[in-house]
Amino acid sequence: MATLELIDLQKRFGEVTAVQHIDFTVADGEFLCILGPSGCGKSTALRMIAGFEEPTAGDILIDGISVVGMAANQRPTAMVFQKYTLWPHMRVYDNIAFGLRLRKLTRAQIAEKVQGSLELVGLPTYGKRFPSQLSGGEQQRVALARALVLEPKILLLDEPFSSLDALLRVRLREELHRIQRKTRITAIFVTHDQEEALSLADRIAVMSKGNVEQLAQPSTIYASPQTLFVADFIGTMNVLQATQRDDQLWFGTEDRYSLPAPADVPYQGAVSIAIRPEDLALAVPGELGAWSGEIEQVIDLGHYRKALLRVESLGTLKVYLTKSRDFREGEILQVQPVRYLVYRENHTPVEVHRTAGVAVL
Ligand SMILES: Nc1ncnc2c1ncn2[C@@H]1O[C@H](COP(=O)(O)OP(=O)(O)OP(=O)(O)O)[C@@H](O)[C@H]1O
Ligand SMILES: [Mg+2]
Repeated sequence: MATLELIDLQKRFGEVTAVQHIDFTVADGEFLCILGPSGCGKSTALRMIAGFEEPTAGDILIDGISVVGMAANQRPTAMVFQKYTLWPHMRVYDNIAFGLRLRKLTRAQIAEKVQGSLELVGLPTYGKRFPSQLSGGEQQRVALARALVLEPKILLLDEPFSSLDALLRVRLREELHRIQRKTRITAIFVTHDQEEALSLADRIAVMSKGNVEQLAQPSTIYASPQTLFVADFIGTMNVLQATQRDDQLWFGTEDRYSLPAPADVPYQGAVSIAIRPEDLALAVPGELGAWSGEIEQVIDLGHYRKALLRVESLGTLKVYLTKSRDFREGEILQVQPVRYLVYRENHTPVEVHRTAGVAVL
């Protein structure tokens, strides 16, 4: 049980700035995901918390006490890595017992803790096996047991499931979620898989180029991305470039289309508009202001249907279609945004809602 504070944290490797600026607090028992594209500094951030890298600047506090300069094995943290890191010549039992032996526990205490951790990860009878006799998923569970058995205050996980197949990933992340809830351990999970982050995290820190762009609950990140990077990176999004003149946003070739501009502050100039596919509603044919497009491709995704709609002078939009009727490629559809986000330079993004002219199909 512990809180973690990262204060103005920075890491440079020579010319490369891996972490520019990280400043946030993780609450006791919280499950925080760090999400971002390859090379944005996720692993570097985690490795600084674990003690495998020292920060260039800033501080790391666990329960209010700085751990900077403290050796990795002295810190109250344990880490699970992406690749299997079990010692191949040791049985599962000895892999897990290793850290406990260093702590000079009695044989009986070690046996009890090892068994408890194997049960926690769902492998109660696997102690005698060697790592080579385990599947990839089982090896990662043992790696998790080996981290948890040390009863760290903070559990650090660096893409622990990314080398497993899709089904197994989902199963293991559900299990990890259950274990984290049961133990109430403070956990930081690094991933570049947004579905993983959205389904696991109490809060997500979205990183880009060494900075945290937004830190919030998954639903907030999805509904109200605070930067264009987050808008584009999380979920499916249509991003359009536009120009604001007075109370209208103009876009498309030769300003063919317009949408109402946000009314919060006067603004003129370039803006980006972000529209979720589910916020593009089908409009009544001929509806004033509706965007008319041709279905380029229909992709059936099981429980819903995604389509690419080519709108002349605008580009290709991603839309979701009901499964209650058929849509054919080549068919002409009218859509209208019912909700969109507007990003302007040096201004807070604004969400605009519209209801007029939308057909109920
Ligand atoms: N030891 C190092 N020496 C020099 N540069 C490094 C070192 N470690 C990381 N970097 C650089 O720092 C940046 C961030 O690396 P990091 O491993 O933290 O990214 P990441 O977000 O974990 O990426 P991925 O999703 O691919 O694992 C990268 O540009 C990387 O090349
Ligand atoms: Mg990494």
